[in-house]
Amino acid sequence: MKLKNTCIVLGFFGLMISLLSFTNTTVVTESTVDPTEWKNLTVLPKDISKEELKKVMKEYSAALGVKCSYCHAPAAEGDGLDFASDAKKEKEFARHMIVMTRKINVENFNWNNDPNPENINTVTCNMCHKGKASPKK
Ligand code: HEC
Ligand code: HEC
Repeated sequence: MKLKNTCIVLGFFGLMISLLSFTNTTVVTESTVDPTEWKNLTVLPKDISKEELKKVMKEYSAALGVKCSYCHAPAAEGDGLDFASDAKKEKEFARHMIVMTRKINVENFNWNNDPNPENINTVTCNMCHKGKASPKK
């Protein structure tokens, strides 16, 4: 009985995967925008390109003087990182910092009435952190 259920579940997943890969290829041929694959962005733009995301992540790492693993938890399997996971409190802390930094810029440095004030980068992580995880130390 158990085995039969497992077979049904596996069969269903197989079907889902083939359906998903079919829809994916259809979307790719119709779309001119880079297909993105982010699973868990809540404060950065959900359609951020790979290059741009890589750039901001490197900026954060350099500003705090840390590696990716300071904010990102290890993957369940293998020795990589699970970038979408929210297991580390440092990642949640960083989200607050991203929102705070954006707010400082929008509210205080929008001299030119920028049409995209969210992109103003006058105050940066590095201005406070200067290569340290905690500016207080
Ligand atoms: C200071 C903390 C911090 C550091 C260091 C950091 N990240 Fe992140 N990263 C975040 C946060 C916060 C998010 C989620 C942003 C959001 O919710 O919009 C994120 C999201 C991501 C995602 C998207 C995952 C998904 O699918 O949702 C990737 C990929 C990623 N980071 C890669 C990296 C890499 C590669 C490095 C090292 C070069 C790095 N990060 C260093 C804080 C950090
Ligand atoms: C206005 C100054 C300021 C800016 C800008 C700023 N931070 Fe911070 N950040 C702080 C201070 C101060 C602390 C320490 C808070 C404490 O220890 O109570 C901190 C703490 C943190 C921590 C927690 C460190 C720990 O000890 O666990 C993370 C992660 C972090 N910041 C990420 C960022 C990122 C990423 C940015 C840019 C998006 C950023 N911060 C921008 C002032 C700033």
